[in-house]
Amino acid sequence: MSKETNRRDFIGYSFAAVAAVGGAASLVGMKQAWDPLPSVLAGGFTTVDLASIKAGEPETFVWRGKPVFVLKKTAEMEKSERDLIVGADRYIIAIGLCTHLGCIPAWSKNMWKCACHGGEYDANAKNTFGPPPRPLDVPPFKIDGSTIVLGETGPEYNTIAAFVATEA
Ligand code: FES
Repeated sequence: MSKETNRRDFIGYSFAAVAAVGGAASLVGMKQAWDPLPSVLAGGFTTVDLASIKAGEPETFVWRGKPVFVLKKTAEMEKSERDLIVGADRYIIAIGLCTHLGCIPAWSKNMWKCACHGGEYDANAKNTFGPPPRPLDVPPFKIDGSTIVLGETGPEYNTIAAFVATEA
């Protein structure tokens, strides 16, 4: 084998190595460009610490731009199949948009009242008066210890959503 051939082989291998490294770097760059930004991924989920919620005083959280009501029931409030039971506590979780035309109902005297056309929902988020055609919707959620993760679905969501579908 001549010296010239060895040199040519070496140059060929070098080009191949540089092309392989360049190709791999390009693939990594393309993947980074295609993957959703971390802020977009995080935007799909909202976590709610149930320990921070006082009984009888619903809190409103934002999930994907929508208000979500989380009510910790008092002992006096009527039980419902819609209740999410965590430990010894019962919660109602509902998308805070009126099922009539989408206004945001306000909590007052143990019910949500919609100022737009007078619709009312009881503490179980069930429509009880006015034009709303169905209860407040249930957002997808799952339970992780004493935290609700809005945006994922767990068995509790499936059970409650199936019940609410029968109320509509
Ligand atoms: S939008 Fe709520 S009652 Fe009409």
